[in-house]
Amino acid sequence: MALARTASHGIIFVAILTNFACSDDLRPAAGAAGVTVHVGLEYVVLDNGIVQLTLSKPEGSITGVKYHGVDNVMEVKEEDGGGYWDIVWNPSNRDSGIFDIILGTEFDVVQQDANQVEVSFRTQWNPSHGGKLVPLNIDKRFVMLRGSSGFYTYAIYEHLQGWPEFNLGETRVAFKLRKDRFHYMAIADNRQRIMPMPEDREAGRSQKLGYSEAVRLTNPINAALRGEVDDKYQYSSENKDSLVHGWISSDPSVGFWVITPSNEFKSGGPVKQDLTSHVGPTCLATFVSSHYAGDDILPRIRNGEYWKKVFGPVFIYLNSASTKSDLKLLWEDAKKQARVEEGSWPYKFPASKDFQKSEQRGSVSGRLLVVDETANKDYVNGNAAFVGLASPGEAGSWQKESKGYQFWVRADAKGMFFIQNVRTGVYKLYAWVPGFIGDYKSSVNITITSRNHINLGNLVYRPPRDGPTLWEIGIPDRSAAEFFVPDPYPYYINRLYVNHPDRFRQYGLWERYTDLYPDHDLMYTVGISDYKKDWFYAHVTRKHGQASYQASTWQIKFRLNSVHRKGTYKLRLALASAVLSELQVRFNNPTAQPADFTTGLIGRDNSIARHGIHGLYWLFSIDVDSSWLLEGDNVIFLTQTRSETPFQGVMYDYIRLEAPA
Ligand SMILES: *[C@@H]1O[C@H](CO)[C@@H](O)[C@H](O)[C@H]1NC(C)=O
Repeated sequence: MALARTASHGIIFVAILTNFACSDDLRPAAGAAGVTVHVGLEYVVLDNGIVQLTLSKPEGSITGVKYHGVDNVMEVKEEDGGGYWDIVWNPSNRDSGIFDIILGTEFDVVQQDANQVEVSFRTQWNPSHGGKLVPLNIDKRFVMLRGSSGFYTYAIYEHLQGWPEFNLGETRVAFKLRKDRFHYMAIADNRQRIMPMPEDREAGRSQKLGYSEAVRLTNPINAALRGEVDDKYQYSSENKDSLVHGWISSDPSVGFWVITPSNEFKSGGPVKQDLTSHVGPTCLATFVSSHYAGDDILPRIRNGEYWKKVFGPVFIYLNSASTKSDLKLLWEDAKKQARVEEGSWPYKFPASKDFQKSEQRGSVSGRLLVVDETANKDYVNGNAAFVGLASPGEAGSWQKESKGYQFWVRADAKGMFFIQNVRTGVYKLYAWVPGFIGDYKSSVNITITSRNHINLGNLVYRPPRDGPTLWEIGIPDRSAAEFFVPDPYPYYINRLYVNHPDRFRQYGLWERYTDLYPDHDLMYTVGISDYKKDWFYAHVTRKHGQASYQASTWQIKFRLNSVHRKGTYKLRLALASAVLSELQVRFNNPTAQPADFTTGLIGRDNSIARHGIHGLYWLFSIDVDSSWLLEGDNVIFLTQTRSETPFQGVMYDYIRLEAPA
């Protein structure tokens, strides 16, 4: 046994060397063929001898990507096939979104030499378009470099002063790949699998589940997938983890990857989640969306304001191996390329002056310290803090911010941070520190100018705290992942997430609450219960009969040996998500009217149905009158009152009771 294992490792090792040698051959640098552009009547073709990209003219949609002997890796038979920029928008007086594929009406070659070709497809709004076209000038760019195994795309959106108001609901680039070739999808080291075919989602091959995006495969073309759930939201990622994702064809061995080298142009900061790749085979680069956040995050262009934003560039990378081999080799190579792209940011090549180059940008550094003690004033390091620059606003406003640019880094173990390559403009510095509640915000605006470095020195974050901790539940990290995530129903499995750290990505977990607590709601006893086992990951509704749902009330039981009658206690209630919920809090009297505290109706992040383990972060600090507390046994009743659907509820991040100072 041991011998056989050693021998097979030997073979794999040889295969790795062969394939990396091969993919390096495909990315020659100097001496490679120059880039050419051929402008036809209805098409424009960019070619560097490695990849040939065909775009419709003047619309600027991708109709062909020829690579490694495959005439076209794109699926172009369908109406929405190929690759395209799209937008969902609505005039401010209209609720429902209008979906448009962005079609250029003017075409230009912006730059053309042997090293680089850049082309532009533009659409210009004018008053004669009225409300039929989104009031934006949009300039879509495609760039091909010499010796590069792929192409770049970016776009500049501009709303001129005085133009009509509108809301931007979504914008992205979508790629539809050939379904006869691309069957294996990879979005992370431990998130990759053979995927269903698009037909598998149709009637006759699948059963619709609780919402249209989720189906159970009853008769898939690949019989091995029978009985599994497919839902594109099971493949969402946080911005910070979405550097590269894509698809692999094994015959011929070709990978197609979307690489997002920076998140500066994305909305909502580093932990905003979005779709990546999914059945189609589809590959997305999403720039604006309400996913896992709700409409509060969407750009609202008002009062004729001037607005301009550059989305991208993103890199579309193609790679290949000479033999039908381990799919992971192409994934490893794509990750390597993704790090190269990330290291080249900000790119030097974009011809648009709206994309600021490195020498036009500025930087900020400093050190974040935390004081979370009431008794002593010791500083602790802001270890691994998330530190970022975003438009001036309230503390935490960055998680709903999408009009401007955001620049985030992780501080080191000492809390030191260095944010490089920041576009010029006015920002505030924001931060949050895993292990501590709340949000840091700089008191002053930070104005970034070209070639200028600002050293902010030591910054001190004082998380909300009035007194010592009496007890706490969970870890303050803006996620519910540390709580109890149940096993999925065997009937609703996605096998990728069996024995996987992301257990929460299974379909139907919300309904397990009713199975696990058939007779009474969750009761947690401080000092005895363990939040990893005894605190359900989401405070959901209780299923009642076939299609009705009930509010549920959770209890936290705790003992106080004595109550300080002078002074106010504090309950810190941090939520990791809220979906059309109202959370009411009562002390020792489950029927008190009104409740001692209510959040009011909050949250539209939809993270329960979308298998996120968090959406937006909420922190409530509740004054607890000492007369509400008893010497001896106490109970806090947490009631989520809204119960129209199975997807309503909140996820807790962390709960703490503080004694008076
Ligand atoms: C910070 O910048 C914002 C936006 O530019 C501005 O509205 C605000 O007045 C500034 N605040 C301070 C304190 O300068």
